[in-house]
Amino acid sequence: MITNTELHKSGNVFPGMIISFTHVVDTLIFNSNNGVILQVQVLRDSVLRFKYGTGGKMEEDFSYAIDDDGNRGYNKLKVTEEEAYYEITTSKIICQIAKIDLRSRIFDIDGKIICEDELGFHYEESYEYGGEVVKMSKKAQPAESYYGLGDKPADNNMRGKRFELWGTDQYAFGKQTDPLYKNVPFYLGLHNKMSYGIFFDNTFRSYFDFAQERHHVTSFWAQGGVMDYYFIYGPDANSVVSGYTDLTGKPELPPLWALGFHQCKWSYYPESNVREVAQRFRDLKIPCDAIYLDIDYMDGFRCFTWDNEKFPNPTQMISDLREDGFKTIAIIDPGIKVDPDYSVYREAMEKDYFCKRADGPYMKGKVWPGECYFPDYTNPEVREWWAGLFKGLIADNGLAGIWNDMNEPAVMEVPNKTFPDDVRHDFDGHPCSHRKAHNIYGAQMAKATYEGVKKFIYPKRPFVITRSAYSGTQRYTSSWFGDNVATWEHLSIANIQAQRMALSGMSFAGSDIGGFAEQPTGELFARWIALGIFHPFCRVHSSGDHGDQEPWTFDENITDITRNFIELRYKLLPYLYTTFWQYAEEGTPMLKSLVLYDQEDPQTHYRNDEFIFGDKMLVCPVLEPNAKGRRMYIPKGEWYNFWSRETITGGKEEWVDADIDSIPLFVKAGSIIPRYPVMQYVGESKIEFLTLDVYYTLGSDKSVVYEDASDGYDYKKGRFSLRNLRFKGTKDQMTISQFKDGKYTTEYETLRFNFIGMPFEIDYVEVDNVRIPLEDLQYDRKTQTMLVNKEFSEFHVVGKK
Ligand code: NOJ
Repeated sequence: MITNTELHKSGNVFPGMIISFTHVVDTLIFNSNNGVILQVQVLRDSVLRFKYGTGGKMEEDFSYAIDDDGNRGYNKLKVTEEEAYYEITTSKIICQIAKIDLRSRIFDIDGKIICEDELGFHYEESYEYGGEVVKMSKKAQPAESYYGLGDKPADNNMRGKRFELWGTDQYAFGKQTDPLYKNVPFYLGLHNKMSYGIFFDNTFRSYFDFAQERHHVTSFWAQGGVMDYYFIYGPDANSVVSGYTDLTGKPELPPLWALGFHQCKWSYYPESNVREVAQRFRDLKIPCDAIYLDIDYMDGFRCFTWDNEKFPNPTQMISDLREDGFKTIAIIDPGIKVDPDYSVYREAMEKDYFCKRADGPYMKGKVWPGECYFPDYTNPEVREWWAGLFKGLIADNGLAGIWNDMNEPAVMEVPNKTFPDDVRHDFDGHPCSHRKAHNIYGAQMAKATYEGVKKFIYPKRPFVITRSAYSGTQRYTSSWFGDNVATWEHLSIANIQAQRMALSGMSFAGSDIGGFAEQPTGELFARWIALGIFHPFCRVHSSGDHGDQEPWTFDENITDITRNFIELRYKLLPYLYTTFWQYAEEGTPMLKSLVLYDQEDPQTHYRNDEFIFGDKMLVCPVLEPNAKGRRMYIPKGEWYNFWSRETITGGKEEWVDADIDSIPLFVKAGSIIPRYPVMQYVGESKIEFLTLDVYYTLGSDKSVVYEDASDGYDYKKGRFSLRNLRFKGTKDQMTISQFKDGKYTTEYETLRFNFIGMPFEIDYVEVDNVRIPLEDLQYDRKTQTMLVNKEFSEFHVVGKK
């Protein structure tokens, strides 16, 4: 146990006693007698911001993460003064600020403790760099669990571990590697069936200790900047994630094709090779929507150029590929080759857009092209210039998206793998050193790229993917997990990373399927594809060093299995798109670790393998070789095995069969899952009908299906189609009601209902109170399907008595 005196001796300064207090609208300011100030801002009834100042000063507000469009406002705010504390009450929480030392305690409305300071805020002057190391410590509640922090490969529940945030290029990282590429200072705490979140908005190198050093204490600190954090109350974990996502921003809808299958390699070249790979997908009838060009398409790795020998006519190639349904995506790195004959370099030099060292010279570092300079993306003028550079690749050449890599930023041949600390950055008019800008650098590059792609691809929707990110980057781009390895352990890491990213507000993410480094066996590849089709971003990528990694690289059996899984993804596209829409609307995570699904069940708190895809499907990858299935935890509720259609009651562990061509997959009883016919790419042909798989249950449940033009912005003007479906089942009847919203007219006229688990034989059917002969609905007794006009409001299926 560290005492206050010891901490004081170690150079830590603690807040003194409150000497004055002001309250202006939503903001309370507490001044203490040693110059520490606490500002508490009530953003919503369940969201409080805590910002501390020292030396009697409060830093000006500036954040790259916080989204101006987030929800603000509260229903209730009452502030009272008690003998020992001030008390702030909203309709959801009560927060007490101790007069003696500014420590805070937050309770729910019934007085149950949610989160409380241990030592609370303290700081240490940094004699080495200037500024202060700012620290916060909170009590770890008994049996409290912790989740979040972006792309960390460690187990979901972080209790007992410490993590660092300092974006780092970690080739062939491992389960214990830390830090990784992304910087997401958000975590979720769960105890006593209550969840809350903490978002520490500080871009300096920071640390989170979840009861590792001291078993009853959770702390976070940063090597500079300000203690500025947001507290987000649930009590339900999903609301915490959506609250956090709302605060740091939600994405727009991607083009539907971006949710299709993507194929990548380092690198496909020359042009004939790209065309061959694409053709092979079509020949083998394996759906694919996107193909990637890694760094070798460029002329000597100069960004925004083409190697004319390898790609003599990129515009033609891209256009031909587009005709065949392939969207081409190319990589762009931050390092700009030092070369006076290269226009991008020259322009940036003329305009003074490159980062410089503290004492004047340019920040020079080696990356693929050799010596490079690096644009300062934290300068808004540089971002605008950078965005403009995409005219060529997007508007002229016809690329459909851009892949940002190496933006931690990664520098080769130096021990720290990045810029030195002294490099200067504009930080949107708040000049600072790299210590402050490092963790936001990649995010700002991705933002600038997004703005460029968005501008030049208009009226279509942009697609960007980034390796590094900070909180809020989900507004602009998708991401992948960097350079993983073709091993079974990495398959499990990919599973955890995808869940963790979704919980951290960045659902649109996925791994390099099959592994980037080294070569997977066919079996590993198949198991990885089986998992990857359930990740919002689904792309095969490999370093290319060890051979190929396309669906046909292994044997025919693996090719067939791969095709089947990719086809399953395409069938589920309307479900996946609806899930994305929910994420974009509400900030709901697209994948839910079991703890997000049922936090009240303690069985879920330490689970890693199972997750919920959307909100109705349960997935659990097979993570070992030679397996015929696996044991898994089925969360509470009634579930259908997707393959066998048998039902199972959850709340227990079960053995589930899943040979190499399968994956444990369940659908919640009562769900209505929309399905499209398989296409080789999005929009290949007209959709004749939307299939709705109805999973019967005794009881009721709600489902939604969201559709729109699949691209463009008409959906923002109300041209979308939203079906709110309600299922109600009794022992001899089913009722499905539909409430429609939106002005979009889907191209199909008919819904094809597919009844699963219906416990009776159909006597008759009524659509909107009119009895319709089963023949007219083309009822097929064998497949249990029938066709119904898409505009129906109520649909009764009545069983024989
Ligand atoms: C590192 C990236 O993580 C990888 O995906 C890419 O293929 C290589 N850089 C080459 O661009």
